[in-house]
Amino acid sequence: MAKTTDRVALDDWYAIATASELSESMETTRLLGQAIEYGLKADGTPLVREILDDGARGAALPSQVRYGCLFTTLGKPTKDIVHIAEADEDDRRFVLCGWVTMRASGLRVVENFLDMAHFPFVHTDILGSEPHTEVPGYASEIRRDVDEVWATNCTFFQPRIAATEDTGDFVHLTYRVPSPFVVMLYRICPTSPNRLDAIALFIQPMEDGLCRAQPVMYLVDPISTDNALLKFEQVIFMQDRIIVENQRPLLMPLEPRAEIPTRADSSSIAYRRWLKEKGIRFGTTAGGA
Ligand SMILES: [Fe+2]
Repeated sequence: MAKTTDRVALDDWYAIATASELSESMETTRLLGQAIEYGLKADGTPLVREILDDGARGAALPSQVRYGCLFTTLGKPTKDIVHIAEADEDDRRFVLCGWVTMRASGLRVVENFLDMAHFPFVHTDILGSEPHTEVPGYASEIRRDVDEVWATNCTFFQPRIAATEDTGDFVHLTYRVPSPFVVMLYRICPTSPNRLDAIALFIQPMEDGLCRAQPVMYLVDPISTDNALLKFEQVIFMQDRIIVENQRPLLMPLEPRAEIPTRADSSSIAYRRWLKEKGIRFGTTAGGA
């Protein structure tokens, strides 16, 4: 497919690479239906360019390195990359979990990330377990002042809520969607209950029904090894990948009542309403062309 004409999708920032893996040999990837290349210039600063249909290179695209990732845009973003306050705290463990490619709309991946109801069935004995299948009530809202979707006061019984824990308890979660293809989770930290672990999922929408995602974690956890933290998150994302790749339709339906919501889906309903208000088409059943 060709580069989308969807202005909403174009005018946003996307993580497209892990910053530490950049080199002077240019790599190619896709963003919003457009072939791009990325790497480092001789002076060590990043370079991102479109690869045009005739193989010529476009002008350098805006780029920024943040949260261990290289971000770029094909348009003119009106908002900066999401601000993650926890990234500035020196004692945080910073874990880049690695890219996971999924044959699904990136919007579906966000929706799956917001969904707690699947924990006992998909992440059995990790993020949920039977018979604790009920999603207790929580609040969802579109925050107009910041133009973000938030879900607060979320709780769920989890048999093993973090890499440090091997007993079950109710986790307290807050979800935040700062842009259509970025979703965050704040979790009361089991080893330090007055602080929140922050986990961001940066999604690179490649085509309408193809994306890759990088989970980035800022944790308060002086105990676990990097490998244990990584493994914990990777197991969960591999389980999610199977789910999102098997959803039908693969793209996000934004028509009213396209899928029958339940009470547990209130964050998904707010997210879809917000996307519809924005008029985004890329990754939806309306198509991104
Ligand atoms: Fe999941």
